[in-house]
Amino acid sequence: MTDRQLIEAAMAARKNAYAPYSDFAVGAALLTEDGKVYSGSNVECVNYPSGCCAERVALYTAVAAGERKFKTIAVTGWKRDEAGKPCMPCGMCRQALYEFNTELRVITGSPDDIKVFILRDIFPYGFGGYGL
Ligand code: THU
Repeated sequence: MTDRQLIEAAMAARKNAYAPYSDFAVGAALLTEDGKVYSGSNVECVNYPSGCCAERVALYTAVAAGERKFKTIAVTGWKRDEAGKPCMPCGMCRQALYEFNTELRVITGSPDDIKVFILRDIFPYGFGGYGL
């Protein structure tokens, strides 16, 4: 599974986003260490806080299926006319992903212009229990 294929999987997942309130549709695709892909889209609710980001939908789907080891997450998100711009995971999603792999690769952008990050770099000094 290449980064390009994982971004394409996130773009496909984005098609199922339920985002009638923000109109900001996000897709995520999470690659396990042994090569499986779990995807998710954002799901919004009329009361707002009950909604969930695409990244956590993908992560929790994978964890609930028994997965624990993750290599890379691809994220794509944009409003109607902004396709291809990078979309970074929110702070809450960074914390949730940090739980399973502090060195997770986080990729975003378009298939032809992929930006690559390491979770620890974009979530420095994250909470992992007591101490640094
Ligand atoms: N959202 C995600 O799904 N992932 C992100 O990384 C950023 C934000 C969702 C939450 C909400 O449904 C919409 O995008 C606008 O914030």
